[in-house]
Amino acid sequence: MKLAVIGAGSMGAQIAQQAALHDIGVSLQDKDEAQLHKARESNRAHLARRVEKGRITKHEAETALERVRTTTDLGDAVGEADFVIEAVFEDLEVKRAMFAELDRQAAPDAVLASNSSTIGIRKLASATRRPELCLNMHFFYPVLVMDLVEIVPGPGTSDETVDRAVELARAMDRTPVVLRKEIDGFIVNRILHAATQEAYRLLDAGVASLEDIDTAIEKGLNWPMGPFRLGDFSGLDVTYNARLHMYRTTGDERYRPSSQLEAKVKAGKLGRKTGEGWYRY
Ligand SMILES: NC(=O)c1ccc[n+]([C@@H]2O[C@H](COP(=O)([O-])OP(=O)(O)OC[C@H]3O[C@@H](n4cnc5c(N)ncnc54)[C@H](O)[C@@H]3O)[C@@H](O)[C@H]2O)c1
Repeated sequence: MKLAVIGAGSMGAQIAQQAALHDIGVSLQDKDEAQLHKARESNRAHLARRVEKGRITKHEAETALERVRTTTDLGDAVGEADFVIEAVFEDLEVKRAMFAELDRQAAPDAVLASNSSTIGIRKLASATRRPELCLNMHFFYPVLVMDLVEIVPGPGTSDETVDRAVELARAMDRTPVVLRKEIDGFIVNRILHAATQEAYRLLDAGVASLEDIDTAIEKGLNWPMGPFRLGDFSGLDVTYNARLHMYRTTGDERYRPSSQLEAKVKAGKLGRKTGEGWYRY
């Protein structure tokens, strides 16, 4: 099995490393050499911590790092791959252009998967001549820790392609779930959005403080973080844009972003990364 991962940002770098930790040969491509350098350094730091904790040996870490071959040349990255996972910017036109190019450059029987959180595969598969070999394979951040992959076939995806994606997820030591229908938000974000929207409604209605809502969810449902703390961790702009996307695509009032969330984003209070969001850091 040879894997190519396209885009070496927060997701691509770790998808590649997770595969390499499980003996899969990977090429990691990015158009930006600086991003490849950052990906190598960040993966090196992650694996060094595992060595310190005695979870892997120094030799295993070195081998897994070397197994991720980095390149800025797309043809070089996908030339010998049986499976390609695209993890470039979340932008429909960038991804469609990438899928058209991957279709030209990858082997005719290679699977083309997208890690997109919001773009259903039908919109990307139509840029290729191989819709039966295209699907969404949605990993979770940080991939080296989060043990789930949502596998989402489009209307044209073959059963064999789904089987190949399930097999790859398992080979990477990640647990796959397979959706039977393409749906915005897949399973996890769908349920997370519903719960978070309810938390925002309670806050907007003055039912409880955000601290108490977080505490209730953490102690009562055993979530590691309540919705407000989680929002600050992921970035309130990310949370806000995901809601706006769902609201615009479904027209469903349930997804309308909360006024307090919108105010935070407009004020540039985006969570941990800006030093303040729902909480101060
Ligand atoms: N960050 C998350 O929590 C998360 C979780 C699940 C899925 N996703 C999805 O993963 C994808 C990537 O997200 P990310 O957070 O890693 O983004 P990111 O901005 O960290 O990384 C994107 C990378 O793609 C590269 N890139 C852009 N255009 C390219 C091109 N034409 N050729 C090669 N490389 C190109 C950029 O240089 C950058 O390194 C998105 O589709 C996103 O929806 C993100």
